[in-house]
Amino acid sequence: MAGTIDNMITAVINLVKTNGITSLIIIVIVIHGFTSKILAWINKKDENRAPGGSTENNQEKITDDTNEHLSHGGEDCDMVPYKQTTYSEDEMKKRSQSFYEDINHRRSVRFFSDKDVPIEVIENCIRTAGTSPSGAHMQPWTFVVIKQADIKAQIRELIEEEEEINYKKRMSETWKKDLKRLRTNWEKPYLETAPYLVLVFKQTHGLTEDGQKITHYYTEESVGLSCGLFLAAVQNAGLVTLTSTPMNAGPKIRMLLNRGSNEELFLLLPVGYAADDCKVPDLKRKSLDEIMVLF
Ligand SMILES: Cc1cc2nc3c(=O)[nH]c(=O)nc-3n(C[C@H](O)[C@H](O)[C@H](O)COP(=O)(O)O)c2cc1C
Repeated sequence: MAGTIDNMITAVINLVKTNGITSLIIIVIVIHGFTSKILAWINKKDENRAPGGSTENNQEKITDDTNEHLSHGGEDCDMVPYKQTTYSEDEMKKRSQSFYEDINHRRSVRFFSDKDVPIEVIENCIRTAGTSPSGAHMQPWTFVVIKQADIKAQIRELIEEEEEINYKKRMSETWKKDLKRLRTNWEKPYLETAPYLVLVFKQTHGLTEDGQKITHYYTEESVGLSCGLFLAAVQNAGLVTLTSTPMNAGPKIRMLLNRGSNEELFLLLPVGYAADDCKVPDLKRKSLDEIMVLF
């Protein structure tokens, strides 16, 4: 090996002696190009190995953020015929109009009645939410239903504790100004009045029985879609809800409900009937022209 390198060096010196400085420049360019290619190849290999690697690879790693997780196992399933339910054009127009009118009546309600609701209705709404599409069909959601008064009271306490700090310290003036028309504050009596609290948890990853991690994909999008279906089902059942975020109390509520560390509180949804004297802000929705662009 040492002999070969010596021979190469001698050959280079002879080449420079006979052909001058131009040949030296050409040799340097060739060697530089060759070593750059080798270094780029080594870097590429490292990126592929490292979880959350950098540069273009991140494009793919956004949804597959760790290579340490297991895949679902690639369980195979049969392909079955799918028969679509179709309607005449007139029927489609009527059905879509009527569905829109129903859904357009949905409002976020902050004043609840304590009137009870059969658990079957809540179960059906959650079944509906569970029909949502999800990244690679991982179904990364858990719907925790609270009916017990003492747990609702504890959740209210945890939420109000954080929400008071939010209003007094964490929220910007602009945020508070934007919320003014909704008449919200840190007091949330509805968390105890509503017959049910449905707490939607997002599973950041799944777990096998022996505790190994299973990768989940597009969890935010999947759980968000599932919650949308839940809201539509609640409306369809003639009930009301209030979409609300955990307001910084997520980790404490997760502990209270003994949820695993792979679960994050995503939304908190009281469900029931609106109070008889319930009022809602007179908000206007954007018109079709403002939200749709047709090419
Ligand atoms: C992600 C999300 C978080 C929300 N968080 C709260 C909340 O913490 N408290 C609240 O009173 N309303 C909350 N809302 C409800 C919005 O204020 C409400 O949807 C909006 O004012 C429109 O009113 P509508 O739902 O009656 O059409 C939230 C809505 C969304 C989509």
